Amino acid sequence: MNILTDKNVINLIRKSLNLIDKRLIHHGERVCYILYKMLQYKGDYSKNELFSFVITALFHDIGAYKNEEIDNMIQFETSDVYGHSIYGYLFLKEFSPLKDVSEIVLYHHLDYSKLSLVDTPYKVIAEYLHLADRIDISLINAETINVSRFNKYENEKFSKESLQIFCEAQETYEIIQNINNNNYLKELDQFFEQATFTSEEIDQFLYMLICSIDFRSEFTVMHTITTVSVADEIGKRLKLSEKELKSLHYGALLHDIGKITTPIRILEAPRKLTDPEMRVMRNHVEMSEYILKDYIDSEILEIAIRHHERLDGSGYPKGLDKTNLTIPQRILAIADMISALCGKRSYKDEFERNKVLDILIRDTNAGKLCNIVMECVIHYYDEIMNDMYHQTINQLNAYKGLKEQYKTIHNRFLESNFSLSSE
Ligand SMILES: [Fe+2]
Ligand SMILES: [Fe+2]
Ligand SMILES: [Fe+2]
Repeated sequence: MNILTDKNVINLIRKSLNLIDKRLIHHGERVCYILYKMLQYKGDYSKNELFSFVITALFHDIGAYKNEEIDNMIQFETSDVYGHSIYGYLFLKEFSPLKDVSEIVLYHHLDYSKLSLVDTPYKVIAEYLHLADRIDISLINAETINVSRFNKYENEKFSKESLQIFCEAQETYEIIQNINNNNYLKELDQFFEQATFTSEEIDQFLYMLICSIDFRSEFTVMHTITTVSVADEIGKRLKLSEKELKSLHYGALLHDIGKITTPIRILEAPRKLTDPEMRVMRNHVEMSEYILKDYIDSEILEIAIRHHERLDGSGYPKGLDKTNLTIPQRILAIADMISALCGKRSYKDEFERNKVLDILIRDTNAGKLCNIVMECVIHYYDEIMNDMYHQTINQLNAYKGLKEQYKTIHNRFLESNFSLSSE
């Protein structure tokens, strides 16, 4: 079973990222379009290089998807744009198939005059990306731009060469007009249609997308991978077929993708949510459906979007009951609860083993959760949690390591007049 086609994995990510913040809608796409046309005009790059640079440009602000960074980023002159550059770089380096070119993101706000001080094979691309980014920010603020406005920065912010490439590419392809009349989207679709990825790369892109959602809040960084692992382990012990296991795995991986639209103040509310807040929180399931429905196989989709349904019909969003809910769907409902109960949240500490089991048994006795699945969970709880721990510890360590690396690079950025070399 093909989980996603090559082009759909990019489309899925584009759709998700465009939903994060209203101020940033399509910014990544427009910047990657501008860069694409500049590189196409220049013509020096192989198809593979072109793909990896253009896709990197699509994700260039992935480090800003913690909302507080966005305000900084959409101003033309800002004091600290390095936070999201460093975070985005580390994120791509650790959690994506774009590891090799991730330095482009690290340097995408560095002025031309400073770029000469850094050691990277991607100076030119980083500089083009910087220019493409600033052109789009100007477009966001003014809808049209006078390119000569950028000439005053020649040899300071941007090189003469990059300004020239942009102007000539603009003349040849009418980049700004295509952005303003939305034709650029069609062109990008065609470009991404030619993308080919291995199934590992597709998995890595999905993993990257999931991390970018979970990492928005400290409290949820481990939620999805814990849920996936617990679901996998229960599924194996219930002897699901290969196909069911695969659907369960990807359904679990994508189940909270709609949370990309949930405001952080709600994800991190240090108390019980009010009714209106709860409605916003619950909306993540409908958003997951909206994001996934055009791209994902229906079996996986239904597993993903039914994790808050309950056998007695008391769940949401559809209030389905046991006549509609399959075993993999019932497994995910329980795995999601286990992951949430045993994790720390803004409103509660981690619950210990017996408390988790008590809550699950209470809900099973009330007719909400599946007996068969729960029997397996009760019987194998320690084994399942132990296996989950071993499968997720690497990500936890990678996340902790990322925070350490961030501090080191940020200090070097500030102290050494940007002449850092990345590690
Ligand atoms: Fe940026
Ligand atoms: Fe959920
Ligand atoms: Fe969840």
